[in-house]
Amino acid sequence: MNNKANLNVGNQNYEFECIKGSEDEVAIDISSLRGKTNVITIDPGFKNTGSCKSAITFLDGEKGILRYRGYSIEDLAEKADFLEVAYLLIFGNLPNQEKLDQFLFDIKENSIVDEDLKKILESFPKSAHPMGVLSSLTSALVSFNPSVSDLESKEEMYNAIVKILAKLPIIVAWVYRRAKGLPLDYGDYSLGYVENITKMMFKRPNKEYIQNDTIVSAINKLLILHADHEQNCSTSTVRIVGSSHAGLFASVSAGISALWGRLHGGANQAVIEMLEAIENDGGDTKKFMAKAKDKSDSFRLMGFGHRVYKNFDPRAKIIKVAADEVLKELGITDPILEIAKDLEKEALADPYFVDRKLYPNVDFYSGIIYKALEIPNEMFTVMFALGRLPGWIAQWKEMRENKEPIGRPRQIYIGEKYRDFLDLDLR
Ligand code: CMC
Repeated sequence: MNNKANLNVGNQNYEFECIKGSEDEVAIDISSLRGKTNVITIDPGFKNTGSCKSAITFLDGEKGILRYRGYSIEDLAEKADFLEVAYLLIFGNLPNQEKLDQFLFDIKENSIVDEDLKKILESFPKSAHPMGVLSSLTSALVSFNPSVSDLESKEEMYNAIVKILAKLPIIVAWVYRRAKGLPLDYGDYSLGYVENITKMMFKRPNKEYIQNDTIVSAINKLLILHADHEQNCSTSTVRIVGSSHAGLFASVSAGISALWGRLHGGANQAVIEMLEAIENDGGDTKKFMAKAKDKSDSFRLMGFGHRVYKNFDPRAKIIKVAADEVLKELGITDPILEIAKDLEKEALADPYFVDRKLYPNVDFYSGIIYKALEIPNEMFTVMFALGRLPGWIAQWKEMRENKEPIGRPRQIYIGEKYRDFLDLDLR
């Protein structure tokens, strides 16, 4: 392909450079468009717009490929530990044992939060959605750690990174434990990252904690599968908030809010609620399939479809197998798993879904695992946030290191033209 693109605006022809990525994807560089032509492009939902060049995650939606820093999601989910994946995403390469140990040590050294944060947590109503609480507390962490707000040097960035990786799991565990009425506690310094998260969440005050390796391995896998997904809604939010030089914690807090929505991370909660609603309604999947296809009904089949994957979501494949394994190992028979399987079978054979290339996404099966682990529905998206944290950090760091300009799109104004001001008594 020619590496130039030509555009006619009015009677004038303009030439733009094309940029090629390492996997041969091509973009027309229109950064000089407005300067040259005085026109802009418009692209609602940014369906055709690349916002940055990134070396972190590659995905091919047509082929169902997802790679972090070149490594396939299948290999990482099977062979790696979540902290290794976090290191890989943030720093670019898999760590050797020494680097991994140092990383874990630095995180553990910061695994404490100011006790006053408990007061803020306790001031939320118990019924508050955990994502709102998580976003607020992440933002509140800035006040307790002012050194993380203005980050310029490598060292300042590293300190902020290990701090947030250390503190967010404590907040997640506290949000979960408060919802369950359990005492708020800290982690166990002797444990690995995921083992510690699991203990912080599930430890009972009246019972010796015994680690369940099936649960740890399932959480490890889920966190890895959610760890990054290039320029999705929450990640773009993190990058754009960070582009104003707001600090890492403030940017992550904004990312948590973006993830909350049911079209993004909130889908995992919505999937289980939908499957439970189908079960309570008598289990007629066909009725709900018809609702999803009815354009006068706002109901959508939650956990189906993806902005980028138009063939299959490779994460969904891995998670489906993991869900089967976890339920088997924990000896759980869940009728909603059968409903999920029926829905999937019907949708994959239905022309409405086939024509629109709507396949199960990562969230179709993740909620079933969380449910099997007795994590409340409202905590599902919080678990997603915990997994996405390394991705947000990596993308924020890349954006700052590349010295990207502040994110500030333009618009086409379609409002009123100039109007004379009318005094109150004349309106
Ligand atoms: N159920 C029924 N119809 C659907 C669905 C669905 N889940 N998803 C898309 N469609 C239809 C949509 O109505 C439209 O039909 P038509 O062309 O006749 O107007 C067509 O498919 C294209 O949909 P779209 O909304 O233009 O596609 P999009 O790329 O803007 O949206 C999506 C992608 C994920 C928001 C959407 O598929 C959806 O709402 N899915 C359900 C929510 C969900 O599972 N979200 C989790 C995404 S994966 C986790 C993450 O990374 O956030």
